[in-house]
Amino acid sequence: MKNDANVAIEIVKAPTSKIDSVDFENLSFGHIFTDHMMVCDYENGAWKRPKIVPYGPITLEPAAKVFHYGQAVFEGMKAYKDKDDKIWMFRPLENFKRINKSSSRMAIPEIPEEYFMPALEELVKLEKDWIKKGFGNSLYIRPFVIATEAGVSASPSKNYKFMIICSPAKSYYTGEVRVQFSERFSRAADGGVGSAKAAGNYGAQFYPTGLANAEGFQQIIWTDASTHEFLEEAGTMNIFFRINDTLITAPTNDRILDGVTRKSIIKMAEENNINVEVRKVAVKEIIEAANNGTLKEIFGTGTAAVINPIAGFGYQGKKYELPKLTDSYASFLKDALMKIQYNLAEDKFDWRY
Ligand code: COI
Repeated sequence: MKNDANVAIEIVKAPTSKIDSVDFENLSFGHIFTDHMMVCDYENGAWKRPKIVPYGPITLEPAAKVFHYGQAVFEGMKAYKDKDDKIWMFRPLENFKRINKSSSRMAIPEIPEEYFMPALEELVKLEKDWIKKGFGNSLYIRPFVIATEAGVSASPSKNYKFMIICSPAKSYYTGEVRVQFSERFSRAADGGVGSAKAAGNYGAQFYPTGLANAEGFQQIIWTDASTHEFLEEAGTMNIFFRINDTLITAPTNDRILDGVTRKSIIKMAEENNINVEVRKVAVKEIIEAANNGTLKEIFGTGTAAVINPIAGFGYQGKKYELPKLTDSYASFLKDALMKIQYNLAEDKFDWRY
């Protein structure tokens, strides 16, 4: 691949900052964006020099392929500020690798590391004042790539925009989260794009999730497309079940996203002598465990959601409530993970960046 490699990033600073108009105590997830964004174009078979410019609208042709064929991928990552004002990201190279994995599945050219990482670092440094100190405060970073070539022939675009935007964040969900086990809809199928962070994977969830919302559930736990007998992934999170003292989560495959938080939690749980089983999770097994009192917890993991306990679930018209635990794995693991993210604990696995 040809590239304009090793070029310095061009930075055009915003003439004024919006930061003073933002209420950092009352942020609803993903609605406010910082002063700058990163833009890097792919043209004539090469990625061009990345630019950081004031955040604002971009112009695309109505025929741009992203609008017609959904050729688009994204990532979600976070930056944190410690008590000494140092900024940390959590395992960003994992997101870098994953955006390229998603891109290759969507016939999008991969981004070289020497473009992705410096562009990300420069942007985060420039927006450092938007990252507030304190547990729970972070900067949510959204890298994405869209197909920009004008043309409605159903073939991969020749041109792309790789962009990064940032949004100050607190928690993703507010209040208790209850989920519905899907009886009919699926998120992904074998051979499909479920393991990619392809934009359409998320858009396709809105309709069934809306139906679940109307029944009082915030999210769906998707079941496998062929039998609907196995639990796979929740809307914006990977999912863990605790039966007695064992944590169980579905293995990643081409239907399930290889979550960075998911794999960090598996590692941390094992490190803390919690028994973890990565295997198929049958709906039947979870219903039985709920009925006989051995189902202790369900929680979701994701960059945006961090670790979110599930208060209850619904299946075949019946509602189940989960016990309120004093020794919850979700809160223990969330606390341990956040201490690493905020530089409050030793980073045994070398995850802070
Ligand atoms: C993330 O956790 O970063 C995600 O990508 C979920 C998103 C759809 C909000």
